[in-house]
Amino acid sequence: MASAATAKRPRVMSGMRPTGNLHLGHYVGVLTQWVKYCDTADAFFEIADLHALTTGFADPQAIRDARNSMVVDWLAAGVDPQKSTFYLQSGVPEISELEVLLGMITPISWLERVPTFKGQIEELGSEIATYGFLGYPLLQLCDIAVFRGEFVPVGKDQVAHLEFAREVVRRFNYLYGGGETILVEPKAMLSEFPNVPGIDGRKMSKSYDNVILLSDDEATTTENVRRMVTDPLKVRRNDPGRPEICPVFALWKFVKPQHVGIVERDCRSGALGCVQDKSDLAEALNEFLRPLRERRALFAADTSQVERIIADGTARARELAAETLRDVKRAMKLT
Ligand code: TRP
Repeated sequence: MASAATAKRPRVMSGMRPTGNLHLGHYVGVLTQWVKYCDTADAFFEIADLHALTTGFADPQAIRDARNSMVVDWLAAGVDPQKSTFYLQSGVPEISELEVLLGMITPISWLERVPTFKGQIEELGSEIATYGFLGYPLLQLCDIAVFRGEFVPVGKDQVAHLEFAREVVRRFNYLYGGGETILVEPKAMLSEFPNVPGIDGRKMSKSYDNVILLSDDEATTTENVRRMVTDPLKVRRNDPGRPEICPVFALWKFVKPQHVGIVERDCRSGALGCVQDKSDLAEALNEFLRPLRERRALFAADTSQVERIIADGTARARELAAETLRDVKRAMKLT
């Protein structure tokens, strides 16, 4: 699908590590954009299982288990594998081979100064300070470069990885290109990822255990919304509230924008109590997620279809990757 009809579209490449089921923040911030790229770009979406192993090497089964359910979340959100390419990183060994080759010209100091290296070690502990983890941004570059990805939609935390990627590509082309551009310098497309708060008011994130999962049932969602924090100064029902600091209010903006004005007015005036507001939001949120969850249930029940989608995309991805790798090996005199 991705070839003839989409030949002139920009090549967009992105990926996610299979580390758990996806939540409302992924949907609003990332997956809705992926849906758009299906129609506007020649898009490649990667199941980054090798990247997941860089930190999760002690529990490979968890990564294996998360693979299909992550893809089911993509499909539920409407990302279309007929109009894009879903593939498994470890199923495209050309990516790993490219990492070895580009490793030859990648100074260790460039990898060590990528902020996520020290940052993640501080957060997760020195056990993750492996050779593989040091190479995380290099592997990410290979994900992109092997498909000659031009645009990479990412959040702010990934910008340093893309800067690193561009430097390595420039060095490669300089050393081996003989005046030609063999590898493409990828550009980060900084998406204005909206700040979706979790139920405790911090950014919605698996590591904070504050998420509303796409795979949750309606009762669980309602219970999670009921547990949400609100304006701490709004103690009694009729106390005036401050919507600007309330995570329940923030979620209304994504879930039912046309209702935001009414909630704002009634919260400020004290006419709307938090208990009522949460029960209204839970209902609206379940309604918002219902079509997605219905699709999710269909795909979740059809493992063989999901695996076929991954296998087909991976086969297609491999063909392209092999072409790039051939060019790289020729340039490095490895023919
Ligand atoms: N590092 C990315 C993240 O943590 C995931 C990822 C892996 C990725 N390979 C990629 C993103 C290639 C964009 C392009 O979110």
